[in-house]
Parts: sequence; C-alpha cells; structure tokens
Amino acid sequence: FAVHLVSFFFSKLQEDPTKKVDRFLYSMCLNDGQLSDISARFQAEMKKGLSIESNAAAAVKMLPAHVRSTPDGTEKGQFLALDLGGSKFKVLQVKVREGTGIRKGEVEMEEQTYPVPRELLSGRGTELFDHVSKCLKDFLHEKNISLEKKHPLAFTFSFPCEQSSLNKALFLNWSKHYRARGLQGKDMIQALREAIDRTGGMDIEVLALVNDTVATMMTCGFDDQHCEVGLIIGTGTNACYMEEMRHVDLVEGDEGRMCVNTEWGAFGDDGALKDYITEFDRDVDAASSNPGRQIFEKMVGGMYLGELVRLVVLKMAKQGLLFDGCVSDALRTKGRITTANVAAMEEYKNGLKNTRDILMDLDLTPSPDDCIAVQHVSTIVSFRSSNLVAAGLAAILTRIQQNRNLRTLRITVGVDGTVYKTHPQYPKRLHKVVRRLVPDCHVRFLLSDSGSSKGAALVAAVAQRLASQRQK
Ligand code: GLC
Repeated sequence: FAVHLVSFFFSKLQEDPTKKVDRFLYSMCLNDGQLSDISARFQAEMKKGLSIESNAAAAVKMLPAHVRSTPDGTEKGQFLALDLGGSKFKVLQVKVREGTGIRKGEVEMEEQTYPVPRELLSGRGTELFDHVSKCLKDFLHEKNISLEKKHPLAFTFSFPCEQSSLNKALFLNWSKHYRARGLQGKDMIQALREAIDRTGGMDIEVLALVNDTVATMMTCGFDDQHCEVGLIIGTGTNACYMEEMRHVDLVEGDEGRMCVNTEWGAFGDDGALKDYITEFDRDVDAASSNPGRQIFEKMVGGMYLGELVRLVVLKMAKQGLLFDGCVSDALRTKGRITTANVAAMEEYKNGLKNTRDILMDLDLTPSPDDCIAVQHVSTIVSFRSSNLVAAGLAAILTRIQQNRNLRTLRITVGVDGTVYKTHPQYPKRLHKVVRRLVPDCHVRFLLSDSGSSKGAALVAAVAQRLASQRQK
C-alpha cells in the first residue's frame, strides 16, 4: 500500500500541469464536430436574417450595406475619412490613384489618432459627434488642408446601422465600450452633418457610411479582386460578404450582388449557442454594459478574452488548483488581465516568462507549474476564439459556394483587428481550422493594416466611379 501511495503522489507531482487545465476547461475545447455544428447553426441564423419574414425576430441582423461592387482599380479621388468604433478613433486623408494597364491602383493615406474621452462614451450622442467633428477640424488645420474647398468625406462607423442607401444609416445599438445616449433610430450621416455644422468653418460633403468589415473588404478588394469577405477580430468581431441580390429580401431587385454586414457578434443572443456557453461566458456577459447581447462577440472579441482568462484563473485558484489556493485582490478585479496580456503569455519565446511577470504584477507568487497552467488557460481561451471565428467563416464560405453553385470556391478574406494583428498564433490557428472545416474552398487571408479606415474612402470612390459610368 505504501508503495502505491508513494507512486500515486509521485505521479501527481509529475503530472503535466496543462492536463488539469484541460480537465477544468473541457467545455471550452471545441472539436471539429462541434465547430461544424456551430457553423450549421450560424448558417441557419444567416438565412433567418436575410428573409423578410424572419428578419425582425432574427438575432443575426444581416444588414444590407448598399455596396454592390468591390473596387476594380480604376477608382480615383481624394477623400477625408473618419473611423469611429474600433480600438482607436482616427481621422484620415485618403488619396486613391487610378491604375492603368497592368499597373494597380494605389491608396495613400495620412492619418491621425485622437483619444475619445471616457465620459463621451456614455454621455450624450450629440457630444460624441461634436468631438468627432472638432477632431476633423483640427486634422484639416494640422495637415494644412484648405478650409475653403468642399471635401468629400466617408465614415467608417463600426456599429450596426440599417441602411437604405450608402448615405442613410439608422443607428441600431451600441456594443463594445460605447453607450452614448439619444442616437437610437437616428441617421448617423445626418448626426455627423449636424455636428459639422455646429462646429462650423468646414465645407464637407458626407458621402457614405460603412461598417468596418465592409471597409476592410473594400481595401483588400482593391489589391485582390477575389476579396469578397471582410472580417474584423478586434475589440469586437464581425464579418461581411457579397451575397446574391436575389437573397437580399430587404432590398429591391434581384440582379447582381450586394455586400451584407452579418453583425455576427449577436449570434447566440436568442439562445442559439446555449450548448456552448460556459459559466465564464455567463459571468462576462452579466458584468458587461449590454447583458444578453453580443454573445458570440463576448466569446471571441479582444474586449473580453483577457477577462475570460482572469475569471478562469480566479476560479482555479479558489479551488486550490493554482497558487496553492492563494487569491489576490488584483486577481479579483475586473479588467486586470487584458487581451494584450493573453497575447504576451502566448509569445513563442518569452511566453512563460511573460506569464510569470503578469502573475507577479497581480501580486501572486506562481510556481513554474502555475505559469505553465495559466499560459495554457490563455491558449484554450484564445484558441476557442479563433475556432469560433473559423466556424462562422466556414458558414459564410459554404453559403457563397452554394449560392454560386461551385464545386470549389476560390476566395480572399480581408482581415483587420487588433486580436488578429497582435496575437502571435491567432492567424495561423484560424487559417488552419477554416481550411479543415471547408476543404473545398481555396481561401486566401489578406491582412489589411488600417483597412477598416481606408476602405470607407474606397466605398466613396467606387460609388463615384459607378455614378460617372452611369452618366456616360
Ligand atoms: C461590433 C459592431 C460591429 C463591428 C464589430 C467590429 O460587433 O456591432 O458593427 O463591425 O464590432 O468592430
């Protein structure tokens, strides 16, 4: 018996610390069968959102973006652009140069980032827009852009809007850090125009409003004609794609295609993901500013990954599975583990050292095994995020393939967003799983740095090109 006891303890001592994490988080480790199931559920949600009968009750809104064509390289012009709703608020000047022959068109830009004061995020909507237009004026001044001339402007607004055209966009609801009051149901183009008038001294023509996913697709579309999907994995997450007009019930006409902003962050808001929600997801949701909403986004987006890791580590510590059962006040504090921390913990070379530093910063004294275990928690949480995105993307790609009746689909996905850009392993994992889930699709992923900012100008440029072609 004594021998058994010793060998039992010995095996316990020897156990790979990632094993206990795997056991603890088994519900976050999704296999391909589960991912295909999630993908099928998302396909059903897309159908629901597109159909006129079920759209009103659909969680996934499938908003027509009124963009009917990706760039063909012959666009040109100079535009101002605003980008609000991502991790940074930016003002830009974008020059689109026409390409001729085999020469591709070029996009040049100058940009400036402006902080959005915290109180404006939850203050009055008009104050938020006043800030936006004051920053625009400052930008014109800083860059010596003439105030005499009229300037066309395009607006990337990374929240859901019901659009009846490129320049009419009724605001639906906030997500992420934003919750300014008094804008629901209002036209965001009009709100911006009014703010620009209030600020005064500028002659601006607001041409178009687009979601960041659409802007990203357009930016990548400028370089790659196959780009017909836009994907954001940043503070929040969302995707858009080119749908057949005959399936877009909310817009008249059956010819050609139109970009649809899926607003997939809201996948699960009607319970469609209930089998996959963990207690940690429920806690993140309950403590958020929009409980019950953006369920998929809260499992994927950069605003929540760090918090998920913190909640898991806290619970494991409380159960004595980490830090000899010690818990610090810092570990109990919301927001103390960020998504940047998650990325640092998973860095190739320094990951374990970073994990140790991050835990020490939280006033914990981790053993080497604790560090390995916490790093593994990060891996499981961020892997689940990329797996869920892969499932959503697989649904979109399958839909496009079926729409076009193709045996194999060759397509490019334009991607932007801080998580995709800064997490060292995220892109590779995502690509691999998408290719496994939809083996018949030849998918190219194109990272578009600042794509979500530039693209609004490209939308305006395409709209101008189409308008001038119609006039000819
Ligand atoms: C949120 C917004 C959506 C946006 C996404 C990424 O999900 O609702 O419109 O595209 O964040 O920024």
